[in-house]
Amino acid sequence: MASFFCSTKFLLLLFFVSAIPIAFIIHLETSSPTTHVYHYHSTGWLRECSKWDNANRRFIVSFFEGGLGVIPVEADYSPGDVLQEIPVVKEADLTGNASLGFTIDRERNRVLVAVADVLGNRYSALAAYDLTSWNRVFLTKLSGPGHQIEKGKRNKHG
Ligand SMILES: *[C@@H]1O[C@H](CO)[C@@H](O)[C@H](O)[C@H]1NC(C)=O
Repeated sequence: MASFFCSTKFLLLLFFVSAIPIAFIIHLETSSPTTHVYHYHSTGWLRECSKWDNANRRFIVSFFEGGLGVIPVEADYSPGDVLQEIPVVKEADLTGNASLGFTIDRERNRVLVAVADVLGNRYSALAAYDLTSWNRVFLTKLSGPGHQIEKGKRNKHG
């Protein structure tokens, strides 16, 4: 059996098995999409979540490296235009935490964002920001240093 993994047959099999998904990804990236796609210049590398903010004609995006941005879509937008991302929330005291999923709370003109230390799993919170000023409305810690949990009730997420 061990010799099979060193054999040419296995290497060929490995090549085809990995080539198929790569070819598929290249195909998806290069073919014109069937649905409309908005292109934009990002200021970072990984965007966790995005939502369309219809009242303000913009996308709101959350940054995996922490913070929020908006991508305005002007009234004269035409398909193919490349939009610009504008960072609107960057909080020094939350540095090192990711901004994850969020929801737009239209009634209260705010956005509710899940904040977490994804890699270390030492902190998590729910943050709210005003949709107009982008000031923080509140920050509620859900877990982290100094968080009191009764012994025996501690779950695996601390
Ligand atoms: C996440 O934010 C909390 C609260 O300010 C901070 O104590 C913690 O160090 C941050 N996490 C990381 C990984 O930096």
